[in-house]
Amino acid sequence: MFEQLQQLPADPILGLMGLFARDANPHKVDLGVGVYKTETGLTPVLDAIKRAEQALVAEQTSKVYVGPAGNLAFLQSMMVLLLGEHQAQNLQPRLATLQTPGGCGALRVAAELIKKARPEASIWVSDPTWGNHIPLLGNAGIRIKTYPYFDASRNALAVDAMMDALSQVPAGDLVLLHGCCHNPTGVDLQPAHWQQIADLAAQRGFVPFVDMAYQGFGEGLDEDAYGLRLLMAQLPEVLFAVSCSKNFGLYRERVGLVGLLNHTAAGATAVMSHLTSIVRGIYSMPPDHGAELVARVLQSPELTALWRQELVDMRERIQGLRMAFVAGMNSRGAAGRFDFIAQQRGMFSFLGLSEAQVAQLAKISSIYLLGSSRASIAGLNHANLGYVCDAVARII
Ligand SMILES: Cc1ncc(COP(=O)(O)O)c(C=O)c1O
Repeated sequence: MFEQLQQLPADPILGLMGLFARDANPHKVDLGVGVYKTETGLTPVLDAIKRAEQALVAEQTSKVYVGPAGNLAFLQSMMVLLLGEHQAQNLQPRLATLQTPGGCGALRVAAELIKKARPEASIWVSDPTWGNHIPLLGNAGIRIKTYPYFDASRNALAVDAMMDALSQVPAGDLVLLHGCCHNPTGVDLQPAHWQQIADLAAQRGFVPFVDMAYQGFGEGLDEDAYGLRLLMAQLPEVLFAVSCSKNFGLYRERVGLVGLLNHTAAGATAVMSHLTSIVRGIYSMPPDHGAELVARVLQSPELTALWRQELVDMRERIQGLRMAFVAGMNSRGAAGRFDFIAQQRGMFSFLGLSEAQVAQLAKISSIYLLGSSRASIAGLNHANLGYVCDAVARII
């Protein structure tokens, strides 16, 4: 039966990781994979997480199931982190939240929920968006449409085209928005844009669906949640998917959550019954370990302070690299061409290179980035920065 299956082409990111691993050049640089790295190229376990983990190992007395909704202390602390104490408390009765295996799990469970509520709904995603959004949502059987987002000629938000497109979205469709640190462009929505979107959602009747995968990597924990908080304050329904992979460094532990702000408390209870029924039919219950670590960090003032500082360090390191790259390119005769990189936020930016130039970078200099020229900025460090700037300057 299974011998009829043909081998699929490699996933672009996994394919790139393979090429990088096989490259023998000692100067090779990986700007492809979307994980945070330190100056020495490590993706570390955060100290706050290590401390929570030591306490957990010492204190945990049972590994009994946590139930389909997951770790309730995690969900409660995460909602405070996302919305702030006051809004989290006010909206709590209208919220249905469920812990998921990572942000990917949250997106997929959200897609299944949409299918139950309104199978004919389309999800509008930004053009471009993170490569895995379309399979995660589309494989659940939901129609995907796109709205313009990025103006490559200015390396900036295509704001007029975006708002024009959103003003045509029909009632009952969903609009997927990156909460902060847009992947892959690094171009974020500003407060006035979030307000425009809230107004359009209220007029048209579409539901915003916020993917929050990098809270704290952009401007700060509260600043990065601005859009989500504004939509939640003004609209009757907001769907959201959250990942703790990057900001808690918990990638492989698979920690995330899906949530819906409902019109009413009774509606939230009904949605909760659907969410638990959906996950019972897929993976039954989420893993607890990483979620319990997040809960312990967020419930301890001491560990929270330590984690917040570690998050500041990660954010500032990326921002410092953005500025150093721009300075490096400016001093190599590309004055002004890459200035936008310093204005953008989060893990990624497009370098604005053609596919042929990206291929040349890999072939000649063993520098790997996605064909779209998306670079994972944390892959730079002070040892490889000059080498990368020299190589980019040579090919442009
Ligand atoms: C935009 C976006 N959403 C969601 C995720 C999901 O992350 P994970 O499933 O690793 O938590 C990612 C990870 O790269 C992402 O970039």
